[in-house]
Amino acid sequence: MALRNIITKGNDILGKRAKEVTEINARILMILDDMLETMREFNGLGIAAPQVGVLKRMFIVEVEDQIVELINPEILEIDGCQKSEEGCLSIPGIIGTVERPVYVKMKGLDRQGDQVIVEGTELMAVALCHEYDHLDGILFVEKAKEIYEVGEEQPEEEQD
Ligand code: CO
Repeated sequence: MALRNIITKGNDILGKRAKEVTEINARILMILDDMLETMREFNGLGIAAPQVGVLKRMFIVEVEDQIVELINPEILEIDGCQKSEEGCLSIPGIIGTVERPVYVKMKGLDRQGDQVIVEGTELMAVALCHEYDHLDGILFVEKAKEIYEVGEEQPEEEQD
């Protein structure tokens, strides 16, 4: 495994639609291993392949010891609405309040190429939707209701 450079906002790759993975080969598995290592190194909850410069439809999410690796994910179902704070390894120092479903159900392939169904609620739902958006070239700041810098007081906490 090896650490990869994380591409940051401003790079065109992050705005592009990633392409389906056509074959799960040794190269794809190596990229996934590198993505996991890179995500953990930078304390991320998730990472999508475009963030390491690979325009393929796959991502990893790790929330509370649950690791989800999905290749060619599709959203089957969403339900509810929650507002939470998000950050992104590709937009360091920025936090935003984003509305996401409370529940999401996705299907995709695991690293063996078997079809899997993944369900997530609350934080897991947020992370799954955030990473899925990366595959369509969408960054959380485009959906955020409020955006602020880390360390800055949140707008709703401001006192006059
Ligand atoms: Co992100």
